[in-house]
Amino acid sequence: MCSSEKWAQGVRDRLLPWALEGVELGDEVLELGPGYGANLRVLVEQVPVLTAVEIDEDTTRLLQKGWGDRARIIHGDASELPFPDRDFSSVVCFTMLHHVPTAEAQDRIFREAFRVLRPGGVFAGSDSQPNFRFRLLHIGDTMNTLPPKTLPGRLEAAGFTDVVVDRYPERGGGVRFRGRRPE
Ligand SMILES: C[S@@+](CC[C@H](N)C(=O)[O-])C[C@H]1O[C@@H](n2cnc3c(N)ncnc32)[C@H](O)[C@@H]1O
Repeated sequence: MCSSEKWAQGVRDRLLPWALEGVELGDEVLELGPGYGANLRVLVEQVPVLTAVEIDEDTTRLLQKGWGDRARIIHGDASELPFPDRDFSSVVCFTMLHHVPTAEAQDRIFREAFRVLRPGGVFAGSDSQPNFRFRLLHIGDTMNTLPPKTLPGRLEAAGFTDVVVDRYPERGGGVRFRGRRPE
């Protein structure tokens, strides 16, 4: 589904504007889990320097072919980022965290996002919430959605302040989150 043009349009017109509403991305942005690039192709038009880390090798190659001249696309694991501390003005991820099989691994990603952010930088993103169609789509696939109630505490445990977690206004919609690395 994430490779379809319909998905890319929905991301561009609805999901991304909602997920990043009011978020200042700054000059050096890191996207975790770009997949087929539905968000990346929008972000690359909006930010000065974009880096993305994708765990799947084939998908990374595909992205490098399509966008490698405009973004730095790296094969790697978001829970062990190959960057020094305090490298980015913002870290973002969309519709990705439910593909991470355990809460512990998701928490490692939150800690890594915090580590590579400059003081004052923002971690922001969104993910789906379970419903009938989403469960059907994930039969035989990883589906570890983020419980909105515990997410603020988990982001705070990683070090973030000014944490906000809320739900998409339409029924059955996803969750968005943001937190800041303190100055
Ligand atoms: C459902 S896709 C979403 C892709 C894209 N963000 C979008 O919204 O269209 C999730 C992507 O996250 C990647 N991913 C999962 N775990 C990851 C990890 N630990 N590090 C980096 N990428 C990961 C998957 O390989 C997949 O490409």
